[in-house]
Amino acid sequence: MTIQFNDETFRDDYSFRNSDWAIKRFPFPFHEDSYMYSVNMEQHRGGPEGSIYENRFDVDEHYVSEMRDRAMVLADDPLRCQSMPHMTLAGWDLLELIMVSKSEDYPDLFELHRDGNNWRWVNKPLGIDDSFVFLDETTLPYGPMEYITRQAQGDFCVLDQRDDNLWMDAGMVTTQADWSLDFDIGMNFFEWHAPVPLAHEKGIFVRALKFLLNIQQGAPARRLNWTMTVNPLLDTSPENYHKWGIQKTTLSPENIGSKQHLRVELQTFFRLPRSNALVFPIRCYLCSFQDLMTVPKWGRRLHRVIRDLPEELATYKGFIDNRPMMLDYLSSFDDGQATSDGI
Ligand code: HEM
Repeated sequence: MTIQFNDETFRDDYSFRNSDWAIKRFPFPFHEDSYMYSVNMEQHRGGPEGSIYENRFDVDEHYVSEMRDRAMVLADDPLRCQSMPHMTLAGWDLLELIMVSKSEDYPDLFELHRDGNNWRWVNKPLGIDDSFVFLDETTLPYGPMEYITRQAQGDFCVLDQRDDNLWMDAGMVTTQADWSLDFDIGMNFFEWHAPVPLAHEKGIFVRALKFLLNIQQGAPARRLNWTMTVNPLLDTSPENYHKWGIQKTTLSPENIGSKQHLRVELQTFFRLPRSNALVFPIRCYLCSFQDLMTVPKWGRRLHRVIRDLPEELATYKGFIDNRPMMLDYLSSFDDGQATSDGI
């Protein structure tokens, strides 16, 4: 299908909107009426036509505006993009993966022409037409990871694999749920997950790491994660907490339907061919409560999940203070009927 790109903002006047199409394909993350952390991994082998799982890298109506927002974040704070010197090859691997995937999956929007190492990349939505020499950094305006992730929705962590662990040695992180690349750079899988409550004692991270270390080339995996965001903000970083944290106090019974957003991350995992690094794209989807409530089974289920969520998780996810107001709003959409599985 042809995508109509929105002209919208994720800051100041928050003109971000989801079309009916975007609401319909929103990745509602709950498959039962309660939620607890688990190793919820599955193969990333595509999905129903039109769904966010159909392609390796989903491109939607927010693409152009999200890339504009990323450029603004980077102009304010270049440390949102970092790559240690030994990660440059992984950056080229990532550039190749994204260019090949997008040009195959969206041939009307992206083109890749290759003649040996002489490559030409055409990105029609962003008006880019660049020729460069693959593996020669001097022929691109940025390093390979930065170049391609300025043109790809979602954050990207590029992880070096050594000593049976993963190390956050490169990344482009401008749309994160309250964690910092600059703080986590150089950390390993257990170190950067240290703040997460309840999951370590359940052995989740030991099992998850084992799974990730064994991901093979051509067999990517995926999982969903979620949190809550007041206003459709992409950049909820610790670096800018002074700007967005305070906005949580602006929620009221009158505006909660439009201001409160469920934030869902489609997290995917790809093995990279030359470097053996693992890339972890984290694609953020936002949907306001009032848009979610247009799907009755989502309204019922969200009420029950939020009501019964352990206090530690509501605190870690940053909405413990607003939970009572959310429940007042959501309860009016819960008629007590059973919800069916497999949403
Ligand atoms: C949270 C990174 C894979 C489970 C986080 C955080 C980061 C992160 C930076 C935020 C921690 C903080 O509060 O500072 C990554 C990276 C991964 C990865 C780079 C890929 C290598 C996984 C996997 C699982 C997982 C495979 C599977 C269980 C979680 C959970 C949270 C979390 C449950 C808490 C999220 C929440 O409640 O919102 N991860 N993660 N992560 N991660 Fe991962």
